[in-house]
Amino acid sequence: MKQKRLLVGISGASGMPIAVELLRALKVSQTEVHLICTDSAVKTLSLETDNPINEIQSLADAVYDSHNIGASPASGSFPMDGMAVVPCSMKTLAGIHSGYSDNLLLRAADVTLKERRKLVLVTRECPLSNIHLRNMYEVSQAGAVILPPVLSYYNRPQSVEEMTRHIVGKILDQFEIEFNEFRRWEG
Ligand SMILES: Cc1cc2nc3c(=O)[nH]c(=O)nc-3n(C[C@H](O)[C@H](O)[C@H](O)COP(=O)(O)O)c2cc1C
Repeated sequence: MKQKRLLVGISGASGMPIAVELLRALKVSQTEVHLICTDSAVKTLSLETDNPINEIQSLADAVYDSHNIGASPASGSFPMDGMAVVPCSMKTLAGIHSGYSDNLLLRAADVTLKERRKLVLVTRECPLSNIHLRNMYEVSQAGAVILPPVLSYYNRPQSVEEMTRHIVGKILDQFEIEFNEFRRWEG
């Protein structure tokens, strides 16, 4: 099977352990990962985890400065199998919703939609305002998959780490990438 090439965007919403676990799983699956972190993502990562940013970046095959709007993912001619924004802040959601691409993550998401490639947004906020709900609805109408990191109990998680891995499994399912640690419902 052809090796997949995925763009991972990390924005500054809560949920950094999900992004870290996703990058680890993608490494194991031998997916080629291209990574863009916003400035707020770097700050939130330092507040929510003990993982230094360079450790996270070392899990990716290519890392881009979010200010470098001339980097490869800014163009639709750069082949990609899709993009996941994990977690996706309400600000980044709003940028994608309006096509206001003032950083590389937003531009890459805009390109992903225009090229009709898969865009998965792990949107995170609680509770949600009408603005957030409208943006999610309309971005979904535009072709994105809205995949909020909601808790699930049917898989009987024994730890936060297990819940995190479950969400990672749901994200990877969207790209048809195998993840051995994902416990599926089997009735
Ligand atoms: C610890 C922490 C947690 C945050 N959690 C959220 C969140 O869950 N959802 C959200 O939309 N913004 C959250 N924010 C605010 C965003 O980081 C902020 O809106 C930022 O401007 C987003 O920028 P970005 O989308 O370019 O990364 C959080 C900020 C911090 C410091």
